[in-house]
Amino acid sequence: MEKIYPVLIVIAGLILVYILWCLTEPFILDQDKVTLRKSSSDKSLNKRILIKRLPMTDSNVNGKPDLRFFFFSDIHAEWCPVNASRLCSAIRKAHGSTPLDAVIFGGDLITYHKNSAMGYKYLNKVSECCKELGIPFYGISGNHDWALEDAAGSAGFTSIDNKTVDLRSHEDGKRIVLAGISDTGRKHRVWQQMPVSSCEAPVILAVHDPDAFIHLDPSNRPDIMLSGHLHGGQMKFPFRIEFTVLRKHDKLPNMGAVQGVYDISGTTLFISRGLGCGILPFRFLSMPEATVVEIFV
Ligand SMILES: [Fe+2]
Repeated sequence: MEKIYPVLIVIAGLILVYILWCLTEPFILDQDKVTLRKSSSDKSLNKRILIKRLPMTDSNVNGKPDLRFFFFSDIHAEWCPVNASRLCSAIRKAHGSTPLDAVIFGGDLITYHKNSAMGYKYLNKVSECCKELGIPFYGISGNHDWALEDAAGSAGFTSIDNKTVDLRSHEDGKRIVLAGISDTGRKHRVWQQMPVSSCEAPVILAVHDPDAFIHLDPSNRPDIMLSGHLHGGQMKFPFRIEFTVLRKHDKLPNMGAVQGVYDISGTTLFISRGLGCGILPFRFLSMPEATVVEIFV
């Protein structure tokens, strides 16, 4: 019996280290960069959803990007150890090297709507920082935000839910459309369609849940899409049970698209791991992320 004690002590030690790491990882901000290029495949020919993993930075792109964004998602302000000051510092740093065209929030201000004030406080600080730097601050709703009335007005950003904004390329001055789609929440889910159609200009879509792509009219899909929602799984488990068992309802992650960049039937999709923690204050192998997005269309 006594021989088993050292084994139990080692197991208990490993469990303790694991728990400590899960509590520590939410504090580590990954300030990364992604280059998103318009796909060369024909969107209209792909009726079946085809997913291909792409690198975060594309070595084939040269020169100045058409647009440069700062994208972050999923604050879940009840437990977001990456506070607004740190996020503002990341925005300042990104804007300092080459000017940003916009800061875009990808939805999920809070986990529970009774805590909306925490989310508003967080985003108002980001809004102040954007105003000071002269950067437009846009946002969309997430599935946890459906009960918030005028979240954008209270949090200090411009909502692009089911709206579009016209932008101009730095490279050649051409028109580029930034579109947004709202999230109606899981309980009363309505999958919205693109707020723009028959558009000659390249279209960039910000939508919280990447599964929205599956429900878009195949003849009217965006060129580039920015999403969040999945938290990169938040806690990685063997055999991907965070998705195969715990998030069976999420289609794209169960088809292989969880975090990072993908070509999905001719649309270039970026899925952010987000910043905060939903429900449990843990992350494991899925650290918080805020991203400089360089667009080449
Ligand atoms: Fe979320």
